[in-house]
Amino acid sequence: MCGIFAYFNYNVSRERRYILEVLFNGLRRLEYRGYDSSGIALDADLASSSSSGSPYAGAPLLVFRHEGKIENLVRSVYAEVDEKDVNLDAAFIVHAGIAHTRWATHGVPAPRNSHPQSSGAGDEFLVVHNGIITNYEVLKETLTRHGFIFVSDTDTEVIPKLAKFVFDQAHDEKGDVTFSQVVMEVMRQLEGAYALIFKSLHYPNELIACKRGSTLILGVNELSGQNSGKPFHDVKALTTNGKPKELFFSSDLCAIVEHTKKYLAIEDNEIVHIKDGSVSVLKFDKDKEKPASVQRALSVLEMEVEQIKKGSYDHFMQKEIYEQPHSLTTTMRGRLKDGGILLGGLKEHLKTIRRSRRVVFIGCGTSYNAALAARPFVEELTDIPVTMEVASDLLDRQGPIYREDTAVLVSQSGETADTLLALDYALENGALCVGVTMPLEAHCQEEHIVVFISMLAVRLVLPAPRRDAIISGLSSLPRNVSEVLKLDAEMKDLASSLIDSESLLVFGRGYNYATALEGALKVKEVALMHSEGMLAGEMKHGPLALVDENLPIIVIATRDACFSKQQSVIQQLLSRKGRLIVMCSKGDVSAVCRSGSCRVIEVPEVADCLQPVINIIPLQLLAYHLTVLRGFDVDQPRNLAKSVTTQ
Ligand code: F6R
Repeated sequence: MCGIFAYFNYNVSRERRYILEVLFNGLRRLEYRGYDSSGIALDADLASSSSSGSPYAGAPLLVFRHEGKIENLVRSVYAEVDEKDVNLDAAFIVHAGIAHTRWATHGVPAPRNSHPQSSGAGDEFLVVHNGIITNYEVLKETLTRHGFIFVSDTDTEVIPKLAKFVFDQAHDEKGDVTFSQVVMEVMRQLEGAYALIFKSLHYPNELIACKRGSTLILGVNELSGQNSGKPFHDVKALTTNGKPKELFFSSDLCAIVEHTKKYLAIEDNEIVHIKDGSVSVLKFDKDKEKPASVQRALSVLEMEVEQIKKGSYDHFMQKEIYEQPHSLTTTMRGRLKDGGILLGGLKEHLKTIRRSRRVVFIGCGTSYNAALAARPFVEELTDIPVTMEVASDLLDRQGPIYREDTAVLVSQSGETADTLLALDYALENGALCVGVTMPLEAHCQEEHIVVFISMLAVRLVLPAPRRDAIISGLSSLPRNVSEVLKLDAEMKDLASSLIDSESLLVFGRGYNYATALEGALKVKEVALMHSEGMLAGEMKHGPLALVDENLPIIVIATRDACFSKQQSVIQQLLSRKGRLIVMCSKGDVSAVCRSGSCRVIEVPEVADCLQPVINIIPLQLLAYHLTVLRGFDVDQPRNLAKSVTTQ
């Protein structure tokens, strides 16, 4: 659950100061993935570009690691280079720098546990890693027996040490070994999920990246005006030596968009080897001696630099909330057409999905909640039974998944370890697996998943009035989202009345049970306030005991088939002097709160099954304002990282 980044310049002169800033900026963009420590490695001196494979070919590397946020690392690096008299103006025609931002899983945040992790004295091999190595204990034991001394508590440390072990052995036996041969042997022995970047003293001016499970991008910046040659439209063109270029590896596109729009999304088991300015992509297969060479077109990023900046907003969370009308429009663009739904990628599987005996939604956190919000209308429209599985719980129980099931795996990032393992499990059990994730360039909220699944459900059924009403509801959603955002000031005022509360309950049912869970999750996650989302139908089976005039309770009572039941819940809570905040459809104030003794949030009414997309927004605004008013960091909540790539 970390961010990795690398910068490589070839045939273009870059000063050390510039290289440092590119690495720092890369880390700043990735800081959302982990912010408890960070590190970088770069060359100490003008490295020779020859003698690959020969021991101790390059000059010693500069390695910096620091605890805390990226800015701590930046300050300490500048202080250290100043102290050691490192020349920041030294220029490099070719240089390979690597960087890492960490969210601790194995070992407390401390410089020794930060990356780059090292093979030992002399830093012959350095590695930055995102993911988790599941067999690290066995590897550590073997390497310790061979004399390696481990200094960190991380799983990652086995990787550079294993690389050195492989290198030394191959060198003794054959005298020569390439960087990619070393990395391939390392991959052969690693189990788990990872994206890795290797830098080595033995292979100056080379970088290797590889992945299995975790996301990894290669960014390509073609420097114009110098040397002619084929433009870089595909991997093949990148093998042309001599052309000046900048190359980047990153866990996320947001760290490369300010440099280039051309990229390659590296696939599982691919190894990208940068050597002497040329790039080769190899496909690793553990059963084959030699890797196959990969040729693929580069993709063009449809993201603007502005998208990754806060712009006029105070926080990224606020920006994400406010950009929802636009991002929902983008999610539906090209898919809502002529009163129907187009889902190109799924076309050939629709028949099988329709025939499945059961749909199993699998996800974690917000993605699970989004799938839960979609469950009632998928059942209603398709008549296929739907069950819900939290990915980790499914794995813990080894719960039943059958060949006749369609497993829908939901993950915004597409790299959540629990969900990926559940995917493997569902595949092993023969289910048809559908992944609902967001394109690499999209940063999305729960609503986008609800919208996507509703499009899928609609696509599965024949035209009917209900289906048409949902399609028309989808097309007017962005307008209604803009409308509900006008509640901002009201939610800020509500937040200020709740800042000292110790706890907050959210009651929902039917379509809005998931809204209650998600609203409470947001309050917990960013405002660091205890909050529980609850099924209103369960209120009298326990939670009612908590009700008094102090505990704030939000009741979601917008118009749908459960409305009258929610009216009765409100009455029961009021008769116990509950401190109520009721969310209702516009114009329903007197219907939900006759005695006037509760606070009311009125939201626009949309098709009942799409109402969660509207109802979650005031709760997001509430969580946002509560966080700011309570003085916490909105964009970097304590102990959390936005991509959970470990189990
Ligand atoms: C909540 C949150 C987490 C994620 C969960 C799954 O705001 O960010 O609960 O929803 O870790 O992540 P994805 O959707 O990327 O699989």
